[in-house]
Amino acid sequence: MPTVPDPLFADCPDRRGTGAEKWDRYVGRDVLPVWVADMDFRAPIEVLTALHDRVDHGVFGYTHEPPGFAPALAAHLERRHGWLVDPARIVATPGVVTGLALTARLFAAADEEILTFTPVYPPFLTLPALAGRRCVRVPLAQSPEAWWIDFDALEAAVSPRSKIFWLCHPHNPTGTVFEQTDLLKLADFAVRHGLTVVSDEIWSDLLLDEDHGGTRHIPFASLDHPAAATAITLVAPSKTWNLAGLGCAAAIVPEPDIRRGWRAAGGGLVPMVNPLGYAAAEAAWTHGDSWRTRLITVLRQHRGLVQEAVATIPGLSCVPAAATFLAWIDCRSTGVKDPQAACEAAGLGPSDGREFGAPGFIRINTACPTDRLAESLRRLRTAFAGG
Ligand SMILES: Cc1ncc(COP(=O)(O)O)c(C=O)c1O
Repeated sequence: MPTVPDPLFADCPDRRGTGAEKWDRYVGRDVLPVWVADMDFRAPIEVLTALHDRVDHGVFGYTHEPPGFAPALAAHLERRHGWLVDPARIVATPGVVTGLALTARLFAAADEEILTFTPVYPPFLTLPALAGRRCVRVPLAQSPEAWWIDFDALEAAVSPRSKIFWLCHPHNPTGTVFEQTDLLKLADFAVRHGLTVVSDEIWSDLLLDEDHGGTRHIPFASLDHPAAATAITLVAPSKTWNLAGLGCAAAIVPEPDIRRGWRAAGGGLVPMVNPLGYAAAEAAWTHGDSWRTRLITVLRQHRGLVQEAVATIPGLSCVPAAATFLAWIDCRSTGVKDPQAACEAAGLGPSDGREFGAPGFIRINTACPTDRLAESLRRLRTAFAGG
């Protein structure tokens, strides 16, 4: 029996003409944009109310962390992940990408190395060079059922110039949630080679099976391990509650000296977080959980639709994501040389695997109304199976 669509996620505003990066890429063309990782859904009413209240205040001067911001995040981390964080360790930052860029400058010198697993969210690959540091790519291992860490490849890649490990956890684009055994092995590796672990946990509130007996998110810095005691964690409400345009994220920074030098490490280029971003983040962390739970129900259905479609298109395969609203699709057995071009010709605009260090893959964003996803999957079939 077909399920009744949740009205929160069935009826979306038209984003065309609003400067939406996602929709403007294919403006004027019949191409459904399923690339950049924001959702087409309206943010929760609790967040919209907090924004209205902040607007009604009417003064938008220079703003640092409002008193409720760090406690709201700390309470959220404790409730969701059982992780007790001292609010004094929380530093606001205008984006997780900004936070990554700052850590490159804080923990590595020019020409030193930042290790990361590939495929990965493109800024992990491009930011080191922008900071004059080197990116060392360590491929994840892959089977039809899973992606996992190849610790031999990791040992082979590290050198005395390696200073940082950038962990994407849960992992974009594969949707992998790293489990405790692997996190502890990674922590041992970091200590052995003197690396600071920077863990990007922006996706950690979108674990699709957590409330259904599946894998839970374990914050890297919550491990009982010396590597955890120095690790930096980056989080944001932006993926979970669709707030990316408001530019508000947070770093959890254990060392007071690093906290003091955090924004200054940007050399004057890092702005303060804006007051609306703070208001939205605090409301999302405090009041956003029932909306989040309903979202996950929809995302689980969407993951199922993608898996059904992929299974019937010859040559495609996709390890089901344990987290995120992304589907990372392997097109290498289709015989199609340029999967991105084939999709666009069929009216579908995914993210191109080449940008993630993985030619032959595409990434599809499923966070749109179900009927739009169904149409996207029809176009996916046209791209690879001719309709
Ligand atoms: C792993 C990861 N980190 C960071 C970001 C972007 O974070 P921000 O918009 O806060 O810079 C994304 C967006 O998709 C992401 O997937």
